[in-house]
Amino acid sequence: MKAAYLVKYGSADSAFEIREVETPQPQADQILIRVSGFGLNFADVMARLGLYKGAPPIPTVIGYDVVGVVEACGAGVDHVSKGDRVMALTRFGGYAEYAIAEKEVTVKIPDALAPGEAVALATQYCTAYYLACRMANIQEGEKVLIHAAAGGVGTALTQIAIDKKCTVFGTCSSSKKIAYLKGNGVHHPINYLTSDFESSVRSIAGDDGIDVVFDPVGGKSVKKGFRLLGSGGRILTFGASSMNKTKSIFGKIKVLGQFGIYHPVQFLSNSKGMIGVNMLKVAEDRPDKIGGVMREVVQGYHDGILKPHVGGEFHIDQLAEAHQFLQSRKSMGKVVVLW
Ligand SMILES: NC(=O)c1ccc[n+]([C@@H]2O[C@H](COP(=O)([O-])OP(=O)(O)OC[C@H]3O[C@@H](n4cnc5c(N)ncnc54)[C@H](OP(=O)(O)O)[C@@H]3O)[C@@H](O)[C@H]2O)c1
Repeated sequence: MKAAYLVKYGSADSAFEIREVETPQPQADQILIRVSGFGLNFADVMARLGLYKGAPPIPTVIGYDVVGVVEACGAGVDHVSKGDRVMALTRFGGYAEYAIAEKEVTVKIPDALAPGEAVALATQYCTAYYLACRMANIQEGEKVLIHAAAGGVGTALTQIAIDKKCTVFGTCSSSKKIAYLKGNGVHHPINYLTSDFESSVRSIAGDDGIDVVFDPVGGKSVKKGFRLLGSGGRILTFGASSMNKTKSIFGKIKVLGQFGIYHPVQFLSNSKGMIGVNMLKVAEDRPDKIGGVMREVVQGYHDGILKPHVGGEFHIDQLAEAHQFLQSRKSMGKVVVLW
C-alpha cells in the first residue's frame, strides 16, 4: 500500500514522501480499513513543525481520522463486517491507503455522508462533544465563548452550544470568517485582530462574565479567558495553536508563562475552574468513553443538529497544499485529503 510519511520537520513542501509499504493486518478487536479519505487536524500541522510532543519520531505516518470501507476484521469484532462504510479514529497511521482502527472507535456511516463530513464527525465533532457535553456540561442559558470558532472544532462547538440554547460568543481573525460565524449561528462574533476580545466580551456580557470558555489557542488567551469567567465558570484548555508562531525555545517558554499561574485556592474562593482535555489520552486510556461520544455524534448528525462543514477537499498529490491551507488560518470547517 501507499502511505504518506512525514520525513522532515518544517515546510509542508518538503515534509512528506509517499512510500510503498506492507499493508498492516488487524489484530484482535481491530479493523483494517481501505481508506478513501483522511482528515487534517491542527495537531498534524504541529507534528509537521516538530512542535507536537505526543507524535511518534520521524519518519512516521501521522493521521487521526479516516473514512473508508472495512477490508478485514480481527477476532472479537462483530459490529461491522467487510464492505461496510465506516469512519474511524486512528492513533496515527491515517495518512495511508489502509489504516488500522480499534473497534470501539470505528462506526458505520451512511453512504450519503461525504468523506469530509465523516472525518469532521470523527475528530472535530467528537472533540467538541466531549468538551461541551461531557467535561463542561453546558446548560441552557449559559454564555459560552468559543475561540477559533470558524475552525473544525469551533464550528462543531458552535452547533452544539446553539442546540443547548446557550448564548454564543465566537472569535476569529477575518471579516470572511465573521460572515461564516454568523451563518453558523454565533450571536456575538468577534474579530480579535481588530478588537481586544476580552473587552469586547465584557462590554456585552457585563459584570456577570462568561460561564464557559473553550480555548485551543493557549498562552495569554487562557489568562484573559479565565479573567472573563463569572461564578460557576469553567475554562477548557485543549490546544496551544499560538505556540506555532514561535520557533525558539525562549518563545515557547514565554507562551507557556503567558497561560498564567493558578492555585486551587483561587478556583475554590472564586468558584471557577480549569479543565484540560487531550482526546488522544482519553482514547488511549478510555476508548469506551470515546466510542460512546462517536455514537452520539452520529446520532446528532442523523437528527440534523450537527452539520459538518467541509472547508477544503484535496487530492493526495496536494497534501502539502492542504497542510499549508490549514496552517494559513484561511480554512473554515474541516479539511480532507482523498486518495
Ligand atoms: N486537545 C485535543 O484533544 C484536541 C483535539 C482536536 C483539536 N484540538 C485543538 O483544537 C484546535 C482546533 O483544531 P482544528 O483541527 O479544528 O483546527 P482549526 O480550528 O480548523 O484550525 C486552526 C485555527 O486556529 C486558529 N489559530 C489561532 N491562533 C493560531 C496560530 N497562531 N496559528 C494558526 N492558527 C491559529 C485559526 O483561526 P483564527 O485565525 O480564526 O483564530 C485557525 O484557523 C487546535 O488548536 C487543535 O490543536 C485539540
